[in-house]
Amino acid sequence: MSSKSLVVTGATGQLGRLVIESLLEKGVPADQVVATARDTSRLDDLAARGVQVRHADYSDPASLKEAFAGADRVLLVSSSEVGQRLAQHQNVIDAAKDAGVDLLAYTSIANGDRSGLALAAEHVATEQAIAGSGLAHTFLRNSWYLENYTGQLPTYLEHGVVLGAAGEGRVSAASRADFAEAAAAVLLTEEPKQVYELGGAAFTLPELAATVTEVTGKEVSYNDLPADALTEVLVGAGLPEQYAAILADADQGLGRGELYVETTDLEALLGRPATTLTEALTEALRAA
Ligand SMILES: NC(=O)c1ccc[n+]([C@@H]2O[C@H](COP(=O)([O-])OP(=O)(O)OC[C@H]3O[C@@H](n4cnc5c(N)ncnc54)[C@H](OP(=O)(O)O)[C@@H]3O)[C@@H](O)[C@H]2O)c1
Repeated sequence: MSSKSLVVTGATGQLGRLVIESLLEKGVPADQVVATARDTSRLDDLAARGVQVRHADYSDPASLKEAFAGADRVLLVSSSEVGQRLAQHQNVIDAAKDAGVDLLAYTSIANGDRSGLALAAEHVATEQAIAGSGLAHTFLRNSWYLENYTGQLPTYLEHGVVLGAAGEGRVSAASRADFAEAAAAVLLTEEPKQVYELGGAAFTLPELAATVTEVTGKEVSYNDLPADALTEVLVGAGLPEQYAAILADADQGLGRGELYVETTDLEALLGRPATTLTEALTEALRAA
């Protein structure tokens, strides 16, 4: 496609950075990519490669106005500041509208029009605000990151257990890199769909434990706990109470199937199968 200015917000974050790398890998000239961040000094390496780096704080409308000047397409990477996200995202929507962008893409959550996860409320409300804005838009409804699990590999191995509150629910987790590549593909698609439900091959948490055993050769089992008990364990491990409760609530949602997606949208955007749990765990073990 011939867009000249593709803006990616949250470029200091893990997903945003990978989207920019993917755009460049796909051959987009660096000067057509705009990377925005609160702290632009953390993007010096991208600036050195010719990427346009601009300051943007979701809580600062004036910064968004400057950052989106001349933008054709904007990818809003959802904020990590849970509780403030709707107001922040509204600022981004307003700035995108003022700038007259052709497309606003938003990284939402699986089943983002109806998910009952506490974490999803701000995504559902953001989707509604975007749809109500009149902007041409695309929702990238990402399921869980595989890294939410691979990052815990040392803990699984230390205790020989995967703890959860998800029962036999299935999660369509995929790697950040795959979600990022899909987002880059959407930014480069002439007429993207309004909704992509994105996820990889689904697994249950008992299957996660079995796959950890298979990949590492160390016996790891799954222990299903009531959500309150899981929250307590997480608090005991040092997580703030509110965050622990949000994670336990997400596991319950997983148990209800709310992080499961039926579609092959991710595979279609990648043009290949998504990275599997086995591949991701193997890589995490190798890198440990
Ligand atoms: N699907 C999942 O499993 C999953 C898991 C975790 C999070 N998420 C969601 O997906 C998003 C992207 O994931 P990620 O792994 O890239 O998260 P991340 O590494 O924490 O990155 C979050 C990005 O949001 C930026 N941000 C936060 N508040 C901002 C503000 N007020 N103004 C401008 N930028 C702001 C951060 O900027 P700074 O670097 O300045 O802080 C950072 O660039 C997260 O923010 C969260 O909404 C999804």
